[in-house]
Amino acid sequence: MLSYDYENALRVGEVSFEDINGVDFTSAYSRLMEKLDNGVVGFRDVIYNENLDEYKFFNGYKNVVVVGMGGSILGTMAIYYAVSAFKNNAYFIDNSDPEKTLSILNKIDLNDSIIYIVSKSGNTLETLVNYYLIKKKIGKLNSFKGKIVFITNDGKLKREAEKNNYEILSIPENVPGRFSVFTAVGLAPLYSLGTDISKILKGAREMDKLCRNEDILKNPALLNGVIHYLYDKKGRDISVIMSYIESLRYFGEWCKQLIGESLGKRGEGITPLLSIGAKDQHSLLQLYMDGKKDKIITFIVPKKYRLDEEIVFEDIDDKEVCCMLSDIIKCEQEATEIALTNNGIPNVKITIDEVNEEALGALMYMYEMQVGFMGELYNLNTYNQPAVEGEKKICWELIKKCDRYGSK
Ligand code: PA5
Repeated sequence: MLSYDYENALRVGEVSFEDINGVDFTSAYSRLMEKLDNGVVGFRDVIYNENLDEYKFFNGYKNVVVVGMGGSILGTMAIYYAVSAFKNNAYFIDNSDPEKTLSILNKIDLNDSIIYIVSKSGNTLETLVNYYLIKKKIGKLNSFKGKIVFITNDGKLKREAEKNNYEILSIPENVPGRFSVFTAVGLAPLYSLGTDISKILKGAREMDKLCRNEDILKNPALLNGVIHYLYDKKGRDISVIMSYIESLRYFGEWCKQLIGESLGKRGEGITPLLSIGAKDQHSLLQLYMDGKKDKIITFIVPKKYRLDEEIVFEDIDDKEVCCMLSDIIKCEQEATEIALTNNGIPNVKITIDEVNEEALGALMYMYEMQVGFMGELYNLNTYNQPAVEGEKKICWELIKKCDRYGSK
């Protein structure tokens, strides 16, 4: 399903097995397991949900539109762009950029669309405004033949859904936004997008078996967490996720949010960066190789590319080479790995068989668990985001200065 190779992280010599054993990861492991066992956080429980039928009604629309921010949409985008992008017309409205939103809404036929409005709090400004824009556009139609589904628990959007008798799906209260991809938040839109959602959960469950292992060498989430924690303490606090397959770009975006918003607290945390191989070998690799010694790289590579073909070409010495296209990118990844290691830059590698639903389920669950473990290592609250609340308050105050504020 997925293999994890950490040897180059030790080979470069900055962190050793003794260092790993010196971290009290057993307590971190127990604290996270206790939280999961007692339902303090519910991101593990939801992968065992057998009742997927409630998400399976909403099929057969030409367009699937998902409106949400951060944890309410990034996981769906990660899985969609990885496994289903060629199957369906998906539109993600995940910003308050008028050009982006209007270019989508001016293009599609809302009468042939299922529209998911996703907001756990129900009060997120961008999602609220984008919903009102859609409502305005629907109001101009003679009759609306599409469908609107709200995935929300609370706030203004829940009241709006109830008032208009829209379908409402809810999110378990103990599952924070950025950990909610395996709830209705991800699974309902993904089902409409033609994704096999039971296979996603299957992958997550297989990974969960590994993540329950107390033996750190058999638990990739715990081991990767401890390695990144130790390197952070040595000044390598930038974690580069370098995917050698473009379809995982949004997995990287999801990961950045999960890591950044969960662990960036009280002066702690690691800074996640996303890179795409092989193209970033011609841009950021110089920095990774020879810049500040503050980075650790995680390669993500598939064994098999879903499209591949034999190629015959002449190399720079005019010698004929015959190989598969995938052999080229594999050589490039391996060369980068060797060069980084030779330069003393720590790196780890996650290998998946190929990009599919199971692999995405396993990969995303591994990162949820890793971040859960790391939060315990740093001894902070992984599941809140108090610092972003300040900006939200200021923004709502600024909104009050808009024309006609409070006239209704
Ligand atoms: O992880 C989180 O909690 C956040 O990224 C939220 O998902 C994001 O702010 C959107 O919140 P909501 O779902 O309440 O609209």
